[in-house]
Order: sequence, then structure tokens, then C-alpha cells
Amino acid sequence: MDVHCMSIKGRDIISALDLKREEVELILNEAESMRNELKGRRCLHLADDKIVMTVFLEPSTRTRLSFQYAAAYLGARGIDFGATEMSSIQKGETFEDTVTMIDGYGPDVIVLRQSVPGNAKKAAEIAKAPIINAGDGANEHPTQALTDVYTIRREIGRLNGVKVGIMGDLKHGRTVSSLSYMLDRFDGNTITYIAPDELQVKPEVLGKLTRTKHSKAERVEDVIEELDVLYVTRIQKERFTDQKEYERLKGSYVISRGFLEKFRRRPIIMHPLPRVDELTVDVDGMREAKYFEQARNGVYVRMALLKEVMG
Ligand code: CP
Repeated sequence: MDVHCMSIKGRDIISALDLKREEVELILNEAESMRNELKGRRCLHLADDKIVMTVFLEPSTRTRLSFQYAAAYLGARGIDFGATEMSSIQKGETFEDTVTMIDGYGPDVIVLRQSVPGNAKKAAEIAKAPIINAGDGANEHPTQALTDVYTIRREIGRLNGVKVGIMGDLKHGRTVSSLSYMLDRFDGNTITYIAPDELQVKPEVLGKLTRTKHSKAERVEDVIEELDVLYVTRIQKERFTDQKEYERLKGSYVISRGFLEKFRRRPIIMHPLPRVDELTVDVDGMREAKYFEQARNGVYVRMALLKEVMG
């Protein structure tokens, strides 16, 4: 397929599965162009007449701010829903009515984060404006996955035949499912899911992989030297119904400089952030540490996505 003929204008982006390989490549190439064009500039004036509405009903630093910066660098106006506590959700307004209202003001795109799996899809069924899912509970986070594969392509130099270990809370982590689906768009990749049994990857995620060889491991030290990428994730305290279970499992894995230095061959270290205890700050100075760069990459990727979705 000729990537120049493709368009995702007006499309909802709810799942990483919504994007074909060629569309992912289009966005990643566009992100690279954005990066180059933005050097030394504050605004590219590619979307001066557009309005980007950001609606974050769950906490966020990176996704919220990188979308807002992306809108500003494109020249679009960003309007933020603000804190849930300051909205009429506090008075009992339903999710459906909230989406209807937001959409009625005429944004060109709505970027939505909220805690209920499947509610991004529900919003897309209600709104005329395209919805970009910025994380729906433990379900998916497709724009994080685009940022992740963009970072892998920049750091490893390819998106085929990459050996990725995904470690931590694979049961609750929405980045885990979206990254798995995104890697599955490419050929010859392998994913090793590293977690205690209780936090292993959901079977439905594995059921959707068609090209990617995958395996499970309990001990990161058994597999780390085979990996190109170690993708560390946080144990998601907020998604545990039993806090005793969280206390028991937190600290299952800790990646520190001392741990990494035991291995002759080391993968790059990625993390969607925020981190808590699973990745110590003494790793930050190692050449393998790529997570802050990964977070910065989110701006270019989201610029590309917003530009393509708004047309
Ligand atoms: N990676 C990520 O989604 O971070 P935030 O929750 O801070 O947006």
C-alpha cells in the first residue's frame, strides 16, 4: 500500500488494533518529520484553525501534557476539561451526557482518558468528533504504544525481529496490551512476558496476537540477556481490589543499576512511567535508560497523530 494515499482523517483511535501496519508507519514517519521541523521553532502552523479537547477523568502527567504540547506545536487551540472535581460530574452528570456536551461545542478531536474499560468506545459511539483513547482503565493505551514503537525504532533501528521483554503488572497494565498489539503489526518479533503468575498477561491479549512468538517467564535474570528491549511497568495499586494482595506483590521486581551491571549483554530499558519502586533512579544515568526520551517522543508521535486524525 502506498503510504501517501492513506488517511486516518476523522477516525476514532480506540485500540492499537485500529491501526494497520502501514498506518503505524505513516504516523511514525510523520513523527520523525515533526521532530526535524520543530527544531528551533515553537509552532509549525499545521492546524491553526483546529480545536483539540483534552478530557482526563483519571490522573495523567505525560499523556495529558504531551497532547497539549502537541496541539500547541501544531498551532491548534487546546481546551482542557479540567479537574473532574470542578466539573458537573461531581453533581452526578452521567458519562454519556458529559460526552454529548463536550462534543456539542464542536471540537475537531477529543482526547479522552477515563477508568472504565470500554468507555472510550462508548464515547466514540456518542460523539461526532473523533475520539482518541488516552487510556481506558486496564484495557488499552494506543498512543502510548505508538510512542513505544517509535522509541524502539529510533533506538534499535528496526521494528521487525525485535526481542522485547515486558515486565511487571501485566494483568492490569493497559500499555501491555496495546504494545503487544502494536508489535504484532510487524514481523518476527518475540515478546517474553515477565511477571509472577498472579500478574501475568491476560489470555485475551495473547489470543489476539497473530504473528508474534510469545512466552512467559517468572525470573527476569533468566531472560534479560536475550532481550533487545526490557519494558518495565509499575504494579498498578489503583487497580487492585485487595490492597493486601498489592502489598504482597509490590516489589516483586526491582531493576537497579546493580542488578543490570551483573549482565554482560544488556537491553535498552523502557518504561511508560510513572515509576514507583520497580525502577531505581540510579539506572537513569546508564546508557541503556531510554524512558525519559520515550516520554519526550510522545510529543512528536501525538503531533503526527493529531495532524492525521484532524486532517
Ligand atoms: N505513560 C502514561 O500514560 O503516563 P501518564 O499516566 O502520566 O499519562
